[in-house]
Amino acid sequence: MLAMNFRGPYRVRIDNEKSIPAILHPNDAIVRVLRSCICGSDLHLYHGLVPDTRVGMTFGHEFVGEIVELGSLVNNLKVGDRVIVPFNVSCGKCAFCKQGLYGNCHESNPSATAVGGFLGYSHTAGGYDGGQAEYARVPYADVGPVLIPEWMDLDDAVLLTDIVPTGYQAAEMGGIQKGDTVVVFGAGPVGIMAAKCAWLFGAGRVIVIDHLHYRLDFVRQYAQCEAYDFKELGDPVVFIKKTTDSLGADVCIDAVGCEAAGNNMNTLLGRRLLLQGGSTTALHWAINSVKKGGIVSIVGVYGPIDALVPIGNVVNKGITIRANQASVKRLLPKLIEHVKSGVLNPKEVITHRIPLKEVAAAYHIFSRKLDNCIKPVLIPDNA
Ligand SMILES: NC(=O)c1ccc[n+]([C@@H]2O[C@H](COP(=O)([O-])OP(=O)(O)OC[C@H]3O[C@@H](n4cnc5c(N)ncnc54)[C@H](O)[C@@H]3O)[C@@H](O)[C@H]2O)c1
Ligand SMILES: [Zn+2]
Ligand SMILES: [Zn+2]
Repeated sequence: MLAMNFRGPYRVRIDNEKSIPAILHPNDAIVRVLRSCICGSDLHLYHGLVPDTRVGMTFGHEFVGEIVELGSLVNNLKVGDRVIVPFNVSCGKCAFCKQGLYGNCHESNPSATAVGGFLGYSHTAGGYDGGQAEYARVPYADVGPVLIPEWMDLDDAVLLTDIVPTGYQAAEMGGIQKGDTVVVFGAGPVGIMAAKCAWLFGAGRVIVIDHLHYRLDFVRQYAQCEAYDFKELGDPVVFIKKTTDSLGADVCIDAVGCEAAGNNMNTLLGRRLLLQGGSTTALHWAINSVKKGGIVSIVGVYGPIDALVPIGNVVNKGITIRANQASVKRLLPKLIEHVKSGVLNPKEVITHRIPLKEVAAAYHIFSRKLDNCIKPVLIPDNA
């Protein structure tokens, strides 16, 4: 089958070296992929920032597909069903899955203590091949996959595998109260969704910070929010203080993660020398621009090693920090309703529909933010 193949940092290719995956466990399903996406998280792999990303790996944690084969213990699905496949691999039975913490399953990545299992996301996250391919194996298929409703567009469905739940959970973890000022760092697909969802929790003002003007223009219109270029603001923390009566924002969301721009020292230590688990610039700005007693919600991804953050300010300001990988499965029923009612219209963020066989070009475009790219979707020829 055709599958994306990682050859090393900044080098991916399409080839047909892999066979269609087989059922390895009675809880597995094999899906024929109908759509897959490239995520900002894939860029961390592509840029060589995630430990134990092995040559030969097929990435892709955001995909939808049609079931072509089922293990003997999967009784809730049938061949021919079209499913949304959450990016988390979750056993459904461990103490964490039972709490709804599907992103923190204790079984799906048994050799790790912190990181859960994610599809197509390196051996650090369990070593599962992903869905940037014609077919994919879905473990614990009796737990994660959810039927795509008849009325739902596949382009909306594929965005429910990650960026919509992640943006929604970013807003949810912010504990937004009616009228709150919410600042979202990052106008990528995740930040855009976080800004859109902040209103659903009662935000009174939503501000997005990035430096890519085409994304700022998009989010301003799509999420009906204010949006500013941090390079033009000078110090974004000072700007946010000034625009909130010197108090700071009620809630700050980090939707940037380990590849943040905007501070040379963090870029050098976190992205070039890999001396910390990523560049923490957006996280610094979030901590320093939230009000005393406020909440910082982190969905941006950071590496497992230590990172420099202004912990003294967290303590002295009495900040609550909430962070996680999204619990996609927990949120899907509600988000499907929001798509049905038109409250959320995810597919508008898709800027590029690219044949799977052009996956290398797709990575290049998304990584370099060329051609006003916001979200690329890969479509196999047999979809
Ligand atoms: N927790 C989860 O479950 C989860 C799920 C999906 C993605 N993520 C993470 O969320 C982050 C964003 O993902 P994405 O797909 O939107 O990525 P993306 O690369 O498309 O977007 C990141 C954006 O951040 C901007 N940016 C860079 N430095 C900044 C700064 N200092 N301040 C403000 N903006 C800055 C970039 O210009 C870019 O527009 C990534 O770290 C990704 O790994 C987490
Ligand atoms: Zn993703
Ligand atoms: Zn579990």
